[in-house]
Amino acid sequence: MKAITVEPKTAGSARYEEFPEPDVSEGSVLVEAVAAGVCGTDVEIVEGKYGWAPPGKTRLVLGHESLGRVVDPGPGSSLKTGDLVVGIVRRPDPAPCPNCAVGEWDMCTNGQYTERGIKEIHGFMSQRWRSAPEYLIKIDPSLGILGVLLEPMTVITKALEQVAMAGQRAFWEPRTALVTGAGPIGLLAALRLKANNLEVHVLDRAETGPKADLVRALGGTYHSGRVTDLDFEPDVIVECTGVGAVIADSIQQIGSGGILCLTGIGAGGAATGEVASVAAQVVLKNNLIVGSVNANKRHWYRAGQNLARSDRQWLNRLITRREKPEDFRTALERQPDDVKVIIQFSEV
Ligand code: BGC
Repeated sequence: MKAITVEPKTAGSARYEEFPEPDVSEGSVLVEAVAAGVCGTDVEIVEGKYGWAPPGKTRLVLGHESLGRVVDPGPGSSLKTGDLVVGIVRRPDPAPCPNCAVGEWDMCTNGQYTERGIKEIHGFMSQRWRSAPEYLIKIDPSLGILGVLLEPMTVITKALEQVAMAGQRAFWEPRTALVTGAGPIGLLAALRLKANNLEVHVLDRAETGPKADLVRALGGTYHSGRVTDLDFEPDVIVECTGVGAVIADSIQQIGSGGILCLTGIGAGGAATGEVASVAAQVVLKNNLIVGSVNANKRHWYRAGQNLARSDRQWLNRLITRREKPEDFRTALERQPDDVKVIIQFSEV
């Protein structure tokens, strides 16, 4: 079979190449790939900035946003041939730390967790892959190709759960939410915040184009200036850019008692303002900053339900480009109107 592989920490090493069939030790369920989503983490791995090959190997199969069709459910699984499934990304650390011991691997405290397509386990960008049944989520078959959006939806499901839980520290009735960055994570955050009846604002660099249209189609307000130029102080900010200056501006702009949730991972950009004076705002306004990464089974389950209930036409518009596996380089190159780019291995 063929797979998109990379030598982690070596820029320019990615290729679509012949690769051994997945071994049964990788899981009893055999899955044929339908599609894999491309995300910023994949780009970082291909640029040689992130990622780890499995122990004793030099190359890693890329891809952590999956959609596949069961071709052999193997023994002892309730899955059936033909079921559409998505693979869970993270595995608990072997120690395990207390969080991994209770199934909250997304909160792993010793850093020894592994992640498919990112950290020490092969990913999903291969024609066939295997998984243990407990790490597969069966999706509503009517979602079809939209099932590929489940993984980013899990990230936002966890982040918004964190915000809701953190909000319980005091009397809190959030009304306005700002999302910074209108990529797939930001737009899915906007979708869910709107579903939770908040007044939703999304800010992005792009002035016009599909991102602005998608926000308006949700009934949200789109902005393209600086966060500190907004004429209101949001109760919740979901930060999806990872850019230092946007984060610092968000800390300045958030309302009293507000919660800033950071989901973006280090895209650089010098922060403006001195850390201590920025932090003083957090103290004086009782603000809370919470980082959120990955997702556990509870979030995968909820995300599956939420995705199935969402407006299919709107979700469809998030997938702005489909590429063939042999054209993975083109898939990884960001184009101005891209929201979610997917690599399609087979028809749904
Ligand atoms: C993935 C997460 C993962 C994180 C850090 C993200 O792109 O969606 O599942 O935990 O990268 O590796």
